[in-house]
Amino acid sequence: MNKPVPIIAVDGPSGVGKGTLCQALANHFKWHLLDSGAIYRVLALSAIKQAIALEDESQLVQLALNLPLTFNTDGCEVKVLLNHIDVTKDIRTEQIGGAASKVAAINTVRAALLQRQRDFRQAPGLIADGRDMGSVVFSDAPVKIFLDASAHSRAERRMKQLQDKQNHVKFAQILQEITERDLRDRNRTFAPLKPAIDALIIDTTSLSIQDVFNQSIKYINEKLAL
Ligand code: DC
Repeated sequence: MNKPVPIIAVDGPSGVGKGTLCQALANHFKWHLLDSGAIYRVLALSAIKQAIALEDESQLVQLALNLPLTFNTDGCEVKVLLNHIDVTKDIRTEQIGGAASKVAAINTVRAALLQRQRDFRQAPGLIADGRDMGSVVFSDAPVKIFLDASAHSRAERRMKQLQDKQNHVKFAQILQEITERDLRDRNRTFAPLKPAIDALIIDTTSLSIQDVFNQSIKYINEKLAL
């Protein structure tokens, strides 16, 4: 029997460094990358553009089932396209992050996006970044990593990223947005943000990106016997 395509599932709250770690792992192993948060973000953006309420379950499910979303990979850069239009930057705002977290709390919307995410499982392997990669979408993943960090340190990192992009932001506002999003993502009834029982938990609060990468690689190599 063919061996299943291996998956490294990386989950955790917003601003914890999952995106950076996943991109580094995808480059290291030369595997595919799934940014599942981008799918929820594009869904939210598309709903807002079409004036669909973020609570309108049936319209959101229809939208999710027919979402004209593509990821274009050019070297290390991934572009997110909605209806062939580049929305890579548009989906990265705090407003869209909050809206994504709202639509993601609806069970039927999550179910409508399940197969689309599973289709990313392609040889030679997949790095899957999200909230429920290890617990639901790829529960058979041989490697599961859950990154966590205090809300305060995640807000600090986020603030730095935004300042780097010359946005003027208030720390208190960012901390509040992160805390609200966490609360919603952790407490929803379907696929809440929580570590899979067999996940390695790494607290990144006082770790550098390199430390997190090194710990992850060591664990992955052991698990996959590389
Ligand atoms: O990872 P992110 O910040 O881009 O995700 C945006 C929102 O999408 C997040 O607040 C919750 C939701 N999400 C989810 O519910 N499940 C996932 N696998 C990924 C994201």
